Amino acid sequence: MRILLLSDIHANLEALEACLDTAPAYDMVVNLGDVVGYGASPNQVIERSRKLGQIFVRGNHDRAVAGLTDLKDFNPIAGIAALWTREQLTPENMEWLQALPHGPLEIVELPDAQLVHGSPLDEDEYVVTLQDAVEPLLFSSVHLTLFGHTHLQGAFSAEGARGDTTRPQYKTVGRSETMEFRLKPSVRYLINPGSVGQPRDGDWRAAFALFDTETQILTFCRTPYNLKAAQDRILAADLPHRLATRLAAGR
Ligand SMILES: [Fe+2]
Repeated sequence: MRILLLSDIHANLEALEACLDTAPAYDMVVNLGDVVGYGASPNQVIERSRKLGQIFVRGNHDRAVAGLTDLKDFNPIAGIAALWTREQLTPENMEWLQALPHGPLEIVELPDAQLVHGSPLDEDEYVVTLQDAVEPLLFSSVHLTLFGHTHLQGAFSAEGARGDTTRPQYKTVGRSETMEFRLKPSVRYLINPGSVGQPRDGDWRAAFALFDTETQILTFCRTPYNLKAAQDRILAADLPHRLATRLAAGR
């Protein structure tokens, strides 16, 4: 089974399409949340994502747009984008967003694994450093935890008491590239495929990953997309300019 891992699309249709165009062959799609928020194509991205598969965990932006959490915990720019998104969504897409399940989620296609947005201990927690990863790695009963939320592509692992961090290193800044990461049976992992629609690791390219359950190889992927079109939509929607400019910086 080859599973395409998508997270933090954030209503960026151009980035999503580029990922799907360049993705290696896959059998199913798993989505780790924040389908909407920030970007200017919420309805299109929800509809495209729903056609790709049924496996979703909700993100904090999904929850905020759906009216399930207070916007006071959001920074002003994220809050403006969430309110704008609420106004845009069709009733059907809003209903779908409100019904998304929270993690951790387990699926039959991926045994000994769990899907979360933030951390298995708290769906809103940011797992940025190895230190942040220690507790979820030690307290998880599964081999593999797939997460999103930080918009940082990479892996944390624990073998006994030894922890490690892997951040994919790429050769270019503008081409499609991949990096293979082989999972070992005796090691526990927390892996983030990165953000499709708003990367924050200094690399503007859309991020995603593919996991092959047979070979146990996880392939990190980056692909360029039509950045200008995504930015133009944000500006045309009168969303804060920062949401357009930050896409170019990958921050
Ligand atoms: Fe996000």
